[in-house]
Amino acid sequence: MILVTGGTGLVGSHLLYHLVKENETVRAIFRSEEKLQKVKKVFSYYTDDFENQFSKIEWIKADITDVPSLEIVFSNEIEYVYHCAALVSFDPKDYRKMRQVNIEGTANIVNFSIDTKVKKLCFVSSIAAVGDAINGNIITEENEWADTGESHGYSITKYGAEMEIWRGSQEGIDVVIVNPGVILGSGFFNEGSGKMFTQVYNGFKFYTEGITGFVGVRDVVKAMIELTKSDIKNERFVLVSENKSFKEIFFSIADVFGKKRPSIKIGKIATSIFWRVDWLLTKITGKEPLLTKNSARSSHKKEFYSSEKIKNALNFKFESIDMVIKKTCEEFLL
Ligand SMILES: NC(=O)c1ccc[n+]([C@@H]2O[C@H](COP(=O)([O-])OP(=O)(O)OC[C@H]3O[C@@H](n4cnc5c(N)ncnc54)[C@H](OP(=O)(O)O)[C@@H]3O)[C@@H](O)[C@H]2O)c1
Repeated sequence: MILVTGGTGLVGSHLLYHLVKENETVRAIFRSEEKLQKVKKVFSYYTDDFENQFSKIEWIKADITDVPSLEIVFSNEIEYVYHCAALVSFDPKDYRKMRQVNIEGTANIVNFSIDTKVKKLCFVSSIAAVGDAINGNIITEENEWADTGESHGYSITKYGAEMEIWRGSQEGIDVVIVNPGVILGSGFFNEGSGKMFTQVYNGFKFYTEGITGFVGVRDVVKAMIELTKSDIKNERFVLVSENKSFKEIFFSIADVFGKKRPSIKIGKIATSIFWRVDWLLTKITGKEPLLTKNSARSSHKKEFYSSEKIKNALNFKFESIDMVIKKTCEEFLL
């Protein structure tokens, strides 16, 4: 049996569809009924038979920070674990919670995987847990992460989670880690990277010229399944289809929707003023920040990643980002 954590999120829901399509026996954890409806929505992008496909999953209510609930989850024979659950946030107030979910939660998954002797654990990390470029060179799996003093909480906790996975590999389980760039895909258009589609559709006017790696969600789950089935173990793989600027991404989304391209370039000074004003407003209103110091800084960084390792290991071919955006925009309108 396969266990999926984070099955009610972007990566996990697309992964679940591909696993049940291959007739795998799948158990997944969830925390709220409401989020299960989102998974059905994702399944509906793939097939009209989505209710039937969805019903093949055995859902168990559990939280990765709650050990007793995980005892039930790991009670039957789990052979493979896909650990996608995480708290993704750039808001400094979430740092403690992120440590709890991303590091301690992953430690729990690793401990249960060791105790129940799973065959392989596949962990979704991030390019945030890969080191910065050295002398402006392209970034690969070999770039060791180091706390620069400016590292943001999400990055620190994803690195901490990877350390737990490597501990698992030393304590006897086979592991494989993927480090995706910004993941683009359908189903979660009001959160994370999905918000970019909603914002551009609604006439968002601003863009920055920061550059990073992007990848489609279908490629992420394809790589995870292929790596888990392969003999490859105790390795990590950067998953980036193309390095692009936010400007290019926003323009492509606008073009596919037939909307006006964002026209106002936001420079570093403007973003640094904006996040400070926004910080003040969140203190007064208690609302979620629109931009944090960390996300402001990330939106201007120019980082280039290489996925040669997975291309060579699995003869892996990535879908172009233009194609990913086209499909995602079509599904946005469904
Ligand atoms: N999206 C990206 O651009 C991106 C890029 C690189 C790497 N990643 C990594 O990819 C993985 C999946 O990301 P995503 O975009 O799919 O995130 P997401 O849509 O925010 O989904 C997160 C998932 O984790 C679950 N979760 C959070 N806290 C939990 C807890 N305490 N116990 C159990 N489940 C919990 C959520 O459950 P609920 O539905 O109940 O909240 C949800 O299913 C994460 O590890 C993330 O770090 C994402």
